[in-house]
Amino acid sequence: MSKVAHFPDQKRINTEREWMPPSRPIDQANQKFKAEDQHALKQIQQWIHIHSGIHYTERKQQLLYKRLQSLCLQKGIVSLQALAEGVLNNSIPGIRKDVAHTASTNHTYFFREPTVLDFFRKEIIPALPRGERWRIWSAAASSGEESYTLAMILAETLGGVDQARSQAAILGTDLSENVIQQAEHGVYHQRRMEGIDAQLQRRYFTQVGLGNWRIDPEIKKMAIFRRLNLKSRPWPFSRHFDVVLCRNVLYYFDEPHQRDVLNSIYQVTRPGGWLLTSVTESIRELDTAWQMVDIGIYRKEG
Ligand SMILES: C[S@@+](CC[C@H](N)C(=O)[O-])C[C@H]1O[C@@H](n2cnc3c(N)ncnc32)[C@H](O)[C@@H]1O
Repeated sequence: MSKVAHFPDQKRINTEREWMPPSRPIDQANQKFKAEDQHALKQIQQWIHIHSGIHYTERKQQLLYKRLQSLCLQKGIVSLQALAEGVLNNSIPGIRKDVAHTASTNHTYFFREPTVLDFFRKEIIPALPRGERWRIWSAAASSGEESYTLAMILAETLGGVDQARSQAAILGTDLSENVIQQAEHGVYHQRRMEGIDAQLQRRYFTQVGLGNWRIDPEIKKMAIFRRLNLKSRPWPFSRHFDVVLCRNVLYYFDEPHQRDVLNSIYQVTRPGGWLLTSVTESIRELDTAWQMVDIGIYRKEG
């Protein structure tokens, strides 16, 4: 049983339903798995768990099944068993990346969970060491909204984008290459802009085409994006981070993997550095060295 508590809010549930890939009925009743798919589903589920740490509980199996069915349709793969073989033997080019993307839930939005972001703005930024360029890591960045939110907050707080860029660098990483490409592209549909104050939207975005907005190129330069699987070791970092955000990803992992990720983040954070989780994920019971400051806010001793 996971010790990361998760209390999903209504917005999240609704929007994630929107984000689910299109699926076809699995059987007439759209309820059960086809018998011959059971084994293949289990195999893929295990591969996903070993590869990425994402743990599909019994309750969520149906969701994974629908997503994989949809992937088979998109890729012209004839059966779930053929997909399982392709993944296990790595015999279909690019299929492992596709399954990793299919397994992940990428829902995110700008200025998500503002209480933690307010703390970042009011308490963390003033406490960060002067004279050094701050290193900030969004460890499950999805399509970049979190990283660009931080960049906008830094620009607003430090007196402009130039000042913010010379003071801070943001790294956004994610398991899914698809979302990393979206983050690098930096163009968002109007639907995805709901969390942004109108003034900030005007200041930091330009409308491009119907209902799409491009992030300001100078804000964009503050963030770089890379594919990184939190389950793979060693992580390729040579210097410590000042602030790490690991939000809305832990509850997809089982408890040993949650603890492992949190301990590894501890190792790559400088003494006195910060960890921000989601306010819906409490890591208190996981028995890590992180010291709780407030809900969703933790600090490394030092
Ligand atoms: C729900 S999004 C959270 C995005 C953002 N942090 C936020 O709070 O809005 C979760 C992200 O975690 C990523 N993810 C899942 N497992 C991962 C892993 N093992 N390594 C890196 N990223 C992972 C998914 O691809 C997805 O984009």
